[in-house]
Amino acid sequence: MSNTHLNLGVCYYPEHWPRDRWEGYAAKMKALGLRYVRIAEFAWSRMEPEEGVYTWEWLDEAIDVLHRAGLEVVLCTPTATPPAWLVRSYPEILAHDEHGRVREFGSRRHYDFASQTYRAHSRRITRELASRYGQHPAVVGWQTDNEFGCHGTTRSYGPASRAAFPHWLQQKYGSLEALNQAWGNVFWSQEYTAWDQILPPNLTVTEPNPSHVLDYARFASDMLAEFQEEQIAILRELSPGRWVTHNFMIFFGDFDHYRASEALDFVTWDNYPTGMLEFFSDWVDEQTKLRFARTGHPDLISFNHDLYRGLKQGRSSAAASANGNSPARQSGFWVMEQQCGQVNWAPYNPLPAAGAVQLWTTQAWAHGADTVSYFRWRAATMAQEVMHSGLLRHDETEDRGFHEVKALDRSGMPNGEVRAPVALLHDYESLWIFDQQRHNAGLSYWTQTLTYYCALRSLGIDVDIVHPDADLSAYRVIVAPALTLMPEARLQRLEAAAHGARLVFGPRTAYRTESGRAFENGQFGSFKHLFGGRLLQFDSLRPGLTVGVGEHRVTTWAESFEPREGQSLHSYGDGPLEGQCAVLRHGNVTTVGAHSATLVREVLREVLREAGLSPQDLPEGVRISRRAGVSAWLNFNSEPITVAGRELAPVSFTLEAEQVMA
Ligand code: GAL
Repeated sequence: MSNTHLNLGVCYYPEHWPRDRWEGYAAKMKALGLRYVRIAEFAWSRMEPEEGVYTWEWLDEAIDVLHRAGLEVVLCTPTATPPAWLVRSYPEILAHDEHGRVREFGSRRHYDFASQTYRAHSRRITRELASRYGQHPAVVGWQTDNEFGCHGTTRSYGPASRAAFPHWLQQKYGSLEALNQAWGNVFWSQEYTAWDQILPPNLTVTEPNPSHVLDYARFASDMLAEFQEEQIAILRELSPGRWVTHNFMIFFGDFDHYRASEALDFVTWDNYPTGMLEFFSDWVDEQTKLRFARTGHPDLISFNHDLYRGLKQGRSSAAASANGNSPARQSGFWVMEQQCGQVNWAPYNPLPAAGAVQLWTTQAWAHGADTVSYFRWRAATMAQEVMHSGLLRHDETEDRGFHEVKALDRSGMPNGEVRAPVALLHDYESLWIFDQQRHNAGLSYWTQTLTYYCALRSLGIDVDIVHPDADLSAYRVIVAPALTLMPEARLQRLEAAAHGARLVFGPRTAYRTESGRAFENGQFGSFKHLFGGRLLQFDSLRPGLTVGVGEHRVTTWAESFEPREGQSLHSYGDGPLEGQCAVLRHGNVTTVGAHSATLVREVLREVLREAGLSPQDLPEGVRISRRAGVSAWLNFNSEPITVAGRELAPVSFTLEAEQVMA
């Protein structure tokens, strides 16, 4: 898949530019040191201007031009943008939003994954495309569609999904008795007596049953995965020897990315640091946003690198690699779209700091990316993305990102392994149920998860983000910040993991069963012995209302435990939980009930020490990541910083031979 060192690529739209520019662009890409060019993910209207009429000549030429220049092509299925003729002939393919409104033609991603009509068109265009280019020497791999889940498009509430949902439920539950029991439908007389009485959980008077919503999330996620698997099967058949990937996107958590990546060869994601900070950062305050406005926040970015690096590790131990006892030792993801100037879609779109493009590229490599591909070649002179930058400006002159890419020295960036001693457990079902009933507007699944992740990164620790059912045998410390949904079989595996590793759990752990109900015997189900106690109370703290745990101020969430076999490490100093246990410890297992970034950091620091790791206190905005024997020191601050005897210039990195940790 890759050269020995970091590869570069670019996202390119030949259909946007006059034919006489193509050779010049290809030569310039090659001269810049790019290897891959991704094309055609939105070009359906140019491939098939009317049903069954294919116009491949332009794409033949576009691919040949790139090939002649020595570039390798990543070709995409164009299904993120069904053209107008298709939508008007088959309006049933359109998605509906949760208010029951049609999501109309005129932008992108306007389709329902459950539509059998659209599935047939998706298979047809994929087959045509793969028959024509599947064996072209320039085509080295495929991208399916584009950014599943972007613009809130995983869940549709239209006719296609409405029709498919009861069938999916019937497959899952077999009987209505089982479904009524699993969802607790005796509550508010929600019991069903026929499958066709069940609709998607939208348009209800007040909040729908969370178990209903949870299953709808699972259903929509399965529809998406099936949609993609149909394309992948065709690509495998007609394009042997080529890989297939998808470009996932930051915190778009409406579908199970583990499931969706199972059939892929490797995973890619789209990294827009400044846009991400503006959009997806409930957990940072305004001051932090301001501080990192021109670089993005290092941990928000690296969380995604670590997440996507771990995705292919799968949802079960069986999916772990055969690489000795080191299931976590795979890297090999890509950044398919890397911001290289300002974006256009956030509420505010600051220009990146000088050096940011190099810093982001290096950070991606240090977290395991084998290829970083920039978005986009030339800034669009038309339509929705006119305000977005590219490597070239509108007028084709080289923009600042271009110069940074040109000047980047990749000789110190070998594409080897990332070896993280700590696993952070994450799953989408916990996210779906957690965020449905947050019980506190200031708290979310991502906020809680990021609090633990950032604490680890601020202590200089490399982290693998993995599914809780993955093989965990290689880790010394396992951190599970927000595993609210906890089947007992999973608790059993975690109990086994606690024989060899130290485990740290966050609030609301094992609060819900697989169907989203509370455990009949309370939090932790029948595994209270593992945690060493039981839940007493939980307290939702409104803004400004805090409670104390030692010197730490607790915000948003405080839960307390009654220690049984376990002991209390920290207790509440005031408020309704005064004197009760806030951090419970039993053997190798520590459970933190209070939401406080500083308390979490203190607890983790101690556990890391016990595990023989060497936490170090890094200054804000400075991070270290290790890969293939190299340590990358990254400074996201706009000031120079001295850390552990080395000077880091503003918005910069240095690469050093790794000092082996104890
Ligand atoms: C991505 C998307 C691209 C482009 C880009 C702009 O989310 O995949 O097609 O829209 O954002 O930043």
